[in-house]
Amino acid sequence: MSFVQVNGADIHYEMTGETGPCLVLIHGSGGSAALWPEELLRLPGVRVAALDLPGHGRSGGRPSDRVEDYARVVAGVVESLGLSGVYLLGHSLGGAIALQLALSSPPWLSGVILVGSGARLRVFPAILEGLENDFAGSLDMMDRFLFSPGTDESIIRASRRSAETAGQKAVLADFTACDRFDVMERLGEISVPALVVSADNDALTPAKYGKFMADAIPDARFALLSGTGHMMALEKPKEVAALVSSFLSGG
Ligand code: COA
Repeated sequence: MSFVQVNGADIHYEMTGETGPCLVLIHGSGGSAALWPEELLRLPGVRVAALDLPGHGRSGGRPSDRVEDYARVVAGVVESLGLSGVYLLGHSLGGAIALQLALSSPPWLSGVILVGSGARLRVFPAILEGLENDFAGSLDMMDRFLFSPGTDESIIRASRRSAETAGQKAVLADFTACDRFDVMERLGEISVPALVVSADNDALTPAKYGKFMADAIPDARFALLSGTGHMMALEKPKEVAALVSSFLSGG
């Protein structure tokens, strides 16, 4: 288990692989590094760092309701570890954080991979109200939006545990950060290559959001996964890992 101090908080990360390009995994709302599938954590020929955002998983610090705050923490982790040639892979809120960082063109950034995400992430008012007033009930409701029908129960339970561990304040802060996020007008400024991955059964970040990013980011490719929902890296880990491998090797 490894930690790095960023802005006075101990940020937890797990690093695997010794050579190759560096992939930094940024989880979504209420998630943690523990939720990534083995297929991504141990991508052959790639150094992979999976981190817990502040107030999530094993990280200290406080969650934030601003994507910009999370982006500063991720940059702090990358810079403290002295990483270069970094590809940021973000899921949902994590994708928003990766986009925010790409817009600031840090010298260590080589590319972004945006999985189940969007350049604007308005949230159903019922989700925000539910998180505020009935946390358990809102997690029940969310399970229906996050996964496609027939998803293995063990995957749904792992995701649920992660949100329960993060707790009500963190999950509400994350969704509020999403709701405030909007860089739709700025995607043309992104100067690194991007891979956008969407799913045909994603009710939270519809494929339309992914297509919009792929059309507006100057150097972007788009992949649409079928038969999966918002949690596509958990539902279709092999397919997502294959897309990421191909992108990292310039394919
Ligand atoms: N990329 C491309 N288009 C987008 C977009 C994105 N990231 N975000 C919004 N749009 C489009 C919408 O499709 C809509 O287009 P339309 O007028 O042709 O239908 C338009 O921009 C306005 O949408 P929005 O800004 O979202 O406001 P709204 O008041 O119409 O809808 C919600 C609000 C919450 C109902 C809607 O955003 C939604 O369905 N969100 C997805 C569910 C959710 O809660 N996701 C959580 C994200 S973490």
